[in-house]
Amino acid sequence: MPGDGIGNDVMEATKLVLDRLEFDAEYVQADIGWEFWCSEGEALPERTIQLLENVDAALFGAITSKPKEEAQAELAPELQSKNLTYQSPIVRLRQHFNLATNLRPCKAYPGNPLNYQEGIDLIVFRENTEDLYVGVEYHPVPESLSEELSKHPKWARFIERASLDDIAISLRINTRDGCRNIAKAAFEHAKTFGYPTVTIVEKPNVVRETSGLMVRTAREVAAEYPGIDLWETNIDAMCMWLVKNPQDYGVLVSSNMFGDIVSDLCAQLVGGLGFASSGNIGDKLGVFEPTHGSAPKYAGQYKTNPMAMILTSKLMLDWLGEKDEAERLESAVAKTIIEGKARTYDMGGTDSTLEVAEEVARNL
Ligand code: IPM
Ligand code: MG
Repeated sequence: MPGDGIGNDVMEATKLVLDRLEFDAEYVQADIGWEFWCSEGEALPERTIQLLENVDAALFGAITSKPKEEAQAELAPELQSKNLTYQSPIVRLRQHFNLATNLRPCKAYPGNPLNYQEGIDLIVFRENTEDLYVGVEYHPVPESLSEELSKHPKWARFIERASLDDIAISLRINTRDGCRNIAKAAFEHAKTFGYPTVTIVEKPNVVRETSGLMVRTAREVAAEYPGIDLWETNIDAMCMWLVKNPQDYGVLVSSNMFGDIVSDLCAQLVGGLGFASSGNIGDKLGVFEPTHGSAPKYAGQYKTNPMAMILTSKLMLDWLGEKDEAERLESAVAKTIIEGKARTYDMGGTDSTLEVAEEVARNL
């Protein structure tokens, strides 16, 4: 699923590397992205969902999304009156296939001129299907909901000051299972790779119930892993500590929204979005995507750093159990970075997306 924008550029580059690795796979291309929104009113067509039911893993490039008015304006004329709303296909894929675990490694490969500091080795486990992303939102607030909320002492402050038309509500919904799943994934990873701590990043002192459930559940899970400490840090303080002492941390675990935010911060510590890979993992399907967006203005120019997408394919290989290939791929990436013979513009170089991929392929 190359998607659109630079998704195509980085996918082509990654395919080149996977072919050189002789990764034995049948590739099936699936339709997804902005062009399908414009032509069909659906960025994630049903045929793509069907197709994903029958694959082992999916590689996803990037997708453009635009604000409401622009999205509406770019729809095919015959679709304009149909009252369609654009929804992020990746968020829908995560929820539809219950890809509840989002993992985002952020490693400072030695010699990367963009490293904030050397020696950073972080991985964020982000809950991927709940929280502020559930899409249970109201604007205006329905009368019936307001009535229900009137039972809560804090609601009066709003209806005294504003009409229901002027209040927006987005629900943050977390479940015990969701919290447990992500905490468990984080601890399992810490155990497998020998990290001494897992840090839960929340805000339970203020958001007592949802963040509270995350932290309380993480404590229960931690009790199953003697020898691995659970550190509890608030999201705001965590941002500060990560800028101050990023090497003190290893495995981070968080809910969907805070995980989204903190994973961009972690990415920037190790070279930015050009290096940030991620996996959306469910019971049956894994969808692997670079954390960067589709950067439409660079589409087709082969300027973009392909490392994020190449490292993303490494996560896919890991998940498919192709450990040797995954390791060879990561070593080739590390060698390419430290030698610095091929670098895209973000790293101060002048090489193209495909030239960097070629260099990684040679280093295999
Ligand atoms: C990410 C992105 C997505 C998210 C957007 C594109 C919907 O920021 O994967 O981190 O918010 O999850
Ligand atoms: Mg994000």
